[in-house]
Amino acid sequence: MTEKFQLYKCEVCGNLVEVLIPGEGELVCCGQPMNLLTAHTEEEIKGEAHLPYMYHNEEGKEILQIGEKIHPMIPEHYIQFIQTISEDGKTAVIKFLEPGEEPKMGVKEGLGNYIARENCNIHGLWSTVIKH
Ligand SMILES: [Fe+2]
Repeated sequence: MTEKFQLYKCEVCGNLVEVLIPGEGELVCCGQPMNLLTAHTEEEIKGEAHLPYMYHNEEGKEILQIGEKIHPMIPEHYIQFIQTISEDGKTAVIKFLEPGEEPKMGVKEGLGNYIARENCNIHGLWSTVIKH
């Protein structure tokens, strides 16, 4: 049984999928079960930051940056996407990123408390809760 917003990865081909509507079945890719990704919730890598960091810009808009010390965005090592999920699970917003772009995302107004998560192409999934 899957759960809404779980992320599963195929270790063979790299497919990464998000569950939108859960079902009973097991997710399979390239002939084998896909791996459920578990998010890191604390900084664990010396000299690097991965957790989404929230601040307000000059206009007062809420911005998420990866991380407090900004994460590299080079082709070999970059943030693939940032996602916010509202506390009630009704609103999910995802921003896809390319190397060379800033690892930042404007947060939808009025979102309240939410989960902020991101995926690094090398270091995987990182998640934090932003409370207001
Ligand atoms: Fe990284």
